[in-house]
Amino acid sequence: MKEYPVQRAAVLKPKPDPSTLVFGKTFTDHMFVMDYTAGQGWHDGRIVPYGPIALDPSAMVFHYAQEVFEGLKAYRNPEGGVQLFRPIENARRINSSCDRMCIPQIPEEDFVAAVEQLVRLEADWVPSAPGTSLYIRPFIIATTPSLGVHAAHDYIFAIITCPVGAYYAEGINPVKIYVESEDVRAVRGGTGYTKCGGNYAASIRAGERAEENGYAQVLWLDGVHRKYIEEVGSMNVMFQIGDTVVTPELTGSVLPGITRKSCIELLKSWGLKVEERQLPAQELFDAGESGALKEAWGTGTAAVISPIGEMGWEDKHVVVNGGKIGPLAQKLYDTLTGIQWGTRPDPFGWVVKL
Ligand SMILES: Cc1ncc(COP(=O)(O)O)c(C=O)c1O
Repeated sequence: MKEYPVQRAAVLKPKPDPSTLVFGKTFTDHMFVMDYTAGQGWHDGRIVPYGPIALDPSAMVFHYAQEVFEGLKAYRNPEGGVQLFRPIENARRINSSCDRMCIPQIPEEDFVAAVEQLVRLEADWVPSAPGTSLYIRPFIIATTPSLGVHAAHDYIFAIITCPVGAYYAEGINPVKIYVESEDVRAVRGGTGYTKCGGNYAASIRAGERAEENGYAQVLWLDGVHRKYIEEVGSMNVMFQIGDTVVTPELTGSVLPGITRKSCIELLKSWGLKVEERQLPAQELFDAGESGALKEAWGTGTAAVISPIGEMGWEDKHVVVNGGKIGPLAQKLYDTLTGIQWGTRPDPFGWVVKL
């Protein structure tokens, strides 16, 4: 595996108290950086002290948003070691995003080597209190100083990391989500299946509206018919309807979540029926009213499993499982977090110990 040169920070920052950590505000001492130059390819991968990146004001990312990113976590296991969860999946997904955004791909093994080396160097930053972790944010930006809409010739790939507190410090409280009928996040043929910043910029307005109305997140409908359930703000969604778990299929406008994939593999291994298909919002709300909808939850790296307790859609309102987490969401949460933090066996070989 590649070993990148390291320039160590002269002064190390004090480690924060994990009980007061706010997500995405505290960054570690070092970051990984690699340059791309047309004709030369990716070169000069290195670890340097964490700090600002100087860019020309005409750098293309500022104007045309040619940018992709990833998100994964490092976990402290009971032996005191540090481990990652399926980092190869993030390498594959960033390359799929790169392909769509005309950004040169990074060899999967180089991506994983960079993540592993940076996390090993920052291992003291991986908190050990229950539920805490080190969030890892790889990203690629177009840096060519040039106006005009076309693919850039120069890019920076960087990885920054930040310690994060327990997502459920106050226990697992199901969230209220609102079906958005006006704005759409993505359409088939667009960039919905990628992790590009533009998708998130387009989602902010509906997110703010939902929050003003007392909802935690937006549940997106497909952009063409405005009829089928797609995903939540930063999570995929799953619904237990009768004895089947239904999750929207990956049509090109939904992010292929790694937690989603892991949940499907777990559910199938438990002998449960999982359907990846188009799910009309009407069917979902009808199932809510008839009682066929047993449980609903979101899946994503941040919360792992986020039970959905209430759903609103225009004048309709449905409470799921009495507003409480259900047994299946709880089992998925316990199993996945057990594998991620190393307190349960890892039968699928998902964990990479550093
Ligand atoms: C739009 C969107 N959907 C789904 C997910 C869940 O993906 P994952 O399970 O890989 O974190 C995320 C988070 O990364 C997201 O931003």
